[in-house]
Amino acid sequence: MAATYDLILRGGTLVNHDGVGARDVGVTAGRIAGIGDLSRASAGDVIDCAGLHVLPGVIDSQVHFREPGLEHKEDLETGSRAAVMGGVTAVFEMPNTNPLTTSAEALADKVTRGHHRMHCDFAFWVGGTHENANDIPELERLPGAAGIKVFMGSSTGSLLVEDDPGVAAILAKTRRRAAFHAEDEFRLEERKHLRVPGDPTSHHVWRDEITALQCTQRLVRIARAQRATIHVLHVSTGEEIDFLRDHKDVASVEATPHHLSLDASLYATIGTKLQMNPPVRDKRHQDHIWWGLSQGIVDILGSDHAPHTLEEKAKPYPASPSGMPGVQTLVPLMLDHVAAGRLTLERFVDLSSAGPARLFGIAGKGRVAVGYDADFTIVDLKRHETIRNSWIASRCGWTPYDGRQVTGWPIGTIVRGARVMWDGELTTPSRGEATRFHQDL
Ligand code: DOR
Repeated sequence: MAATYDLILRGGTLVNHDGVGARDVGVTAGRIAGIGDLSRASAGDVIDCAGLHVLPGVIDSQVHFREPGLEHKEDLETGSRAAVMGGVTAVFEMPNTNPLTTSAEALADKVTRGHHRMHCDFAFWVGGTHENANDIPELERLPGAAGIKVFMGSSTGSLLVEDDPGVAAILAKTRRRAAFHAEDEFRLEERKHLRVPGDPTSHHVWRDEITALQCTQRLVRIARAQRATIHVLHVSTGEEIDFLRDHKDVASVEATPHHLSLDASLYATIGTKLQMNPPVRDKRHQDHIWWGLSQGIVDILGSDHAPHTLEEKAKPYPASPSGMPGVQTLVPLMLDHVAAGRLTLERFVDLSSAGPARLFGIAGKGRVAVGYDADFTIVDLKRHETIRNSWIASRCGWTPYDGRQVTGWPIGTIVRGARVMWDGELTTPSRGEATRFHQDL
């Protein structure tokens, strides 16, 4: 008897851990139920994927969705709308909201707010602080917790653990891989006078490569002493890539699409829109991060989606806040890099699905396998598009890539078997649920 599924993705080219090839995928009750030639099977719904590539759902493990407290920039609904419009099926959201996500109550509040209101699946990073270090064993295991995130250099919001004893106290307690914003706060303080009023090009002079490298070196030293595993977010310098290549047993590495796609020459045209922590730097760093990606030193991609309103960004530097949106443009930008031959589609899948699942112990996501969540990012590798502000679903309403032409575009976003986005339309909204993690964490 021919098999029956709820949904079949038919006629597409599947990109998976066993290669790239023509295979159909059958889905039942939100899970993958069959892979192969399903031409004789029937289903309640069939999506014609002819000419398209079917990827495991893209997981963006670094986004700032601003709720609660900063909803004039973004909220969990608008941020996740941007995610699915861009082909992203799950996000890990950051703790620098107001109140900060540093307690069980604040985390539970976010999970409640996100449940069936966000359009993609989600987890929330819990901020590690001097005050909550002893609570970490409970905090990092709560439902919906992605793990512990620490800011060693100050950025948007008040989260900060700048000192080695503070970081050691946190890493003495973590069992999961903790994520770090590594910029040396002491050096940032010493060099604040280097910020030139009205001149955002001074941002990467102030927050220089030594600020990043020195902090990453301190962090790895502490992690080793504490026998902890860590994740270095948004690596922005070639020097850190060279350093981290020798510490992969302890530290995993995130690269962002903006550090791979933008460089300091753009301050002249887009000014404070380029302002980000850690900064977008000279081209030599971008080239070196690409080299690190080609050599496997970079483990995953994260967008660091950090929206601010245009009005806020229009303030004269340094009153302008750091951050730019990115969750919606991650897939098209990286597919464009695939089209240009800078990485393979398989490597993109490794960086955006399998990689986050491996690093953070996500259960049932990150590959196309029977029993896994039916999350897919369906893309057209040949489609030429121009990224426009008008396409941006984030409440901030702008992108630093406005006007950029790309080859490769997300056509569909399937979350646990539901067609959430198809060809630029939100088709099945608001089904997001907390991501599951492996039980042994
Ligand atoms: O530029 C940044 N903006 N870097 C961060 O680490 C935080 C982010 C934000 O929340 O705005």
